[in-house]
Amino acid sequence: MLKLRKRCGTIFKICFTRRGFRYKVAIFIVGIIIVFYLLIIILNVIESNLDEDMNSFSIIFRGVPKDENVPVLIWWTPFTGDSGSYKQCGRNICFFTDQRKYMNDPRTRAFLFYGSDFKPTDLPLPRLLSHDWALFHEESPKNNFLFSMEKVMKLFNHTATFRRESDLPLTFQYLDNLESLTSKKYFVPTSVKNKNGKTLAPLAYLHSDCNTPSQRDSYVEELAKYIPVDSYGKCLQNKELPSHLSDPMTNMISPEIFHLLAQYKFNIAFENAACQDYITEKLWRPLTIGSVPIYFGSPKVEDWLPNPLSAILVKNLKSPKKAS
Ligand SMILES: *[C@@H]1O[C@H](CO)[C@@H](O)[C@H](O)[C@H]1NC(C)=O
Repeated sequence: MLKLRKRCGTIFKICFTRRGFRYKVAIFIVGIIIVFYLLIIILNVIESNLDEDMNSFSIIFRGVPKDENVPVLIWWTPFTGDSGSYKQCGRNICFFTDQRKYMNDPRTRAFLFYGSDFKPTDLPLPRLLSHDWALFHEESPKNNFLFSMEKVMKLFNHTATFRRESDLPLTFQYLDNLESLTSKKYFVPTSVKNKNGKTLAPLAYLHSDCNTPSQRDSYVEELAKYIPVDSYGKCLQNKELPSHLSDPMTNMISPEIFHLLAQYKFNIAFENAACQDYITEKLWRPLTIGSVPIYFGSPKVEDWLPNPLSAILVKNLKSPKKAS
């Protein structure tokens, strides 16, 4: 620096032009950064517009069914909160509504039911041959026991449930994408987990529905006799969550909870009921955060696991004592 200053003092002219060159380079670089920044903003705007287009794609327009031939589909149990609109349905355009007044409309082709609200005492009867019934239900039969009955399931021509045999299976509804399984976003290395061992139990349990057909709490109670379990949910609670996270609806998706549970080597992942292909966030959450699930639920869970060793399956263990 000293040398430069000296030179600037003596040969002022050259130094001045050199400095000018540097300014140009600096302005050029700043310019490039600004252009890149603008490009990123523009691309983001285009992308979000595309997303909106995708959403508006499903609703073509709202209103009443004017066409003589448009198939009318009635949400018999209101689900979308949409009283009437034209939407894409497969290759066709259909009119979707939750208005029961269209029940006897000759254009009515299908009745759609959301499982939790399905009641045998409230059905669109008499049923015409041209009336298809369709069931959408992502919950286990704990939510509505009727669907455990073959007779009831036979009422539906189309189903979207967790079962692989359904027309539109929802088995992966709780797994965002493959990348969330490989991502190390929440991962805590085993060396850190070993150190945590002084203050945390090896197992975490976070469940808020304590009265379930699978009776998961009884198992955990027995297991806790042989190995310490930190229980944060409403069931068998022995550790408290921060109050803003105690609502089960928020803690199902909260990154804060993910970070907390990721500190554990094992997470107890018991479904509320043991049904074919009924797999929820209970299984996917530990796998996403890098903790081993101790799993009970779907008897055929192996078919969906990324690897046979991805989870410890309670059904293969003789007793809670053995599991510990
Ligand atoms: C829809 O299901 C009902 C009840 O099982 C049945 O009677 C009817 O034939 C089915 N409709 C079609 C188009 O398959």
